[in-house]
Amino acid sequence: AHQQQGLLDPDRVVNIAHRGASGYAPEHTMTAYQLSHKKLKADYIEIDLQMTKDGKLIAMHDETVDRTTNGTGAVKDKTLAEIKRLDAGSWFNTANPEYAKAEYMGLQVPTLDEIFDTYGKHANYYIETKSPEVYPGMEAKLLKTLQRHGLSSDRVKPGQVMIQSFSQESLLKVKQLDARLPLVQLMDAATVKAMTPEALDELQTYAVGLGPSFKGLTRENTAMIREHGLLLHPYTVNEKVDMERMLDYGVTGVFTNYADRFNEVLHAL
Ligand code: G3P
Ligand code: CA
Repeated sequence: AHQQQGLLDPDRVVNIAHRGASGYAPEHTMTAYQLSHKKLKADYIEIDLQMTKDGKLIAMHDETVDRTTNGTGAVKDKTLAEIKRLDAGSWFNTANPEYAKAEYMGLQVPTLDEIFDTYGKHANYYIETKSPEVYPGMEAKLLKTLQRHGLSSDRVKPGQVMIQSFSQESLLKVKQLDARLPLVQLMDAATVKAMTPEALDELQTYAVGLGPSFKGLTRENTAMIREHGLLLHPYTVNEKVDMERMLDYGVTGVFTNYADRFNEVLHAL
């Protein structure tokens, strides 16, 4: 029944595929997104944004290509053409021999445009502005890309596009550009552990939700956050016992590398 409820409904629990189905396939590749969307049935595709030297938004977690490709160096110093020549899949086979597949070899780094070209309105997106201080203009470019694909806040279901960041400044920039896009403030464990009602009052002025490290959540601060009417989506919850504990505390969704596991936990309730 919860599927009928809107994505922003506080009684709905959402399943956010962290970097796609990144437990099973190389993170932030179209293959990982397709697996989470079609097979694992996640509600959201999570996308981390970086920006190339020639100003293209790409899906990548790190500021350098070192960990997730066969190249080296900073994204900001490379053109999209240079990044497109990199292999973004083979590293996964080495790092995860139990899930290795030949088809992962040679996968490319996707652009945000390519992701939107593929899924359009048929997916929900949870997009993070990463290192916004390194990439001036990233927020405006993101908003333009959404517009170009008919994904502005006035053209999608509420919550179909969520914007998340550790940077409050970046979220406030997004809010200035499109006041109706739902924003989620990301937070490390220590900061959420030290959370106060006053800090939540401020957060409420611009964000619909909080995305903290699950390691900083307790029954008590979960209740306090929820009492402020905020959605609560902890990252990155990969073990079933932690998923169950988070649900018991009262979170409204999780970021997970294993969306299938979280669906199993939800269906067993
Ligand atoms: O965006 C939620 C979570 O992904 C934040 O941590 O480092 O995985 O982007 P990170
Ligand atoms: Ca992220």
